[in-house]
Amino acid sequence: MNPTLDVIEKRKSVRTYTAEPLTKEERDAILRAAFRAPTSGAMMLYSIIVIEDQAIKERLVEICPQQSFIAKTPYLLLFLADYQRWMDIYAYSGVEARCKELGIPFRSPQAGDLMLACSDALVAAQTAVIAAESMGIGSCYISDILKQYELHQELFALPRYVLPITMVSFGHPASPKGPRKQLPRFGRRFITHTDRYKRISQEEVGEMFQLFEEQSGADRQPARDTEKFVQENYLHKFNSTLMSEMNRSVNEMLKNWA
Ligand SMILES: Cc1cc2nc3c(=O)[nH]c(=O)nc-3n(C[C@H](O)[C@H](O)[C@H](O)COP(=O)(O)O)c2cc1C
Repeated sequence: MNPTLDVIEKRKSVRTYTAEPLTKEERDAILRAAFRAPTSGAMMLYSIIVIEDQAIKERLVEICPQQSFIAKTPYLLLFLADYQRWMDIYAYSGVEARCKELGIPFRSPQAGDLMLACSDALVAAQTAVIAAESMGIGSCYISDILKQYELHQELFALPRYVLPITMVSFGHPASPKGPRKQLPRFGRRFITHTDRYKRISQEEVGEMFQLFEEQSGADRQPARDTEKFVQENYLHKFNSTLMSEMNRSVNEMLKNWA
């Protein structure tokens, strides 16, 4: 295995950090890696806010109380889907007048543009995560930033065509080996398809969770009964109050964008 694959293989989300700040070199390397990530049309349809102000971190914890580790995060990056920069550049560059001359409508960003900008933001975030990992710096995504759009919009002064997509915390792991065990993944055959999509059958659900549980080891409660396990997943994850707030918030984002 080459060193890059080794870093990817061993990564785990890390939520507890030492108080040691990241050096300037480490912070620069993380940002530089994000900027080197592939980007749609080479347009960099994203922005990154480096959250340094402790008062903002505390406010984020108030907004997402389950994510209290944010307050103690040595380096916190907010990844935004950003079409505002290009819309401003178009405005400064007489694009609307040029469209008029050409007899074509001047359009605003739409759903497809947003999807590309979200992809850009996430590709940049994951590249930053891997760069950090390669330097022994742990990280964790924080998707709660998709909740409470109105509060985050105000907190970060986000204009219309800038939406929060994800936040990533970085820091030196409090325990050098990080969490005890890696969390399992579903078996490859349930996640990859050849040439055409194949829906999962009822029998395969049992097999999928059986394999998953085998990987889980002693760290997790074995799913004695797959149906019950899946029902719990629905009730506590998919149908949680967290997800209902996230869906409300993202609907607001989409309304604003449109
Ligand atoms: C899009 C995305 C959102 C996530 N949001 C959160 C979050 O809000 N809080 C958190 O503690 N972990 C979050 N995580 C981390 C996952 O919980 C973690 O990746 C998963 O449990 C697998 O563990 P591992 O990363 O250690 O392999 C998120 C991960 C992703 C990819």
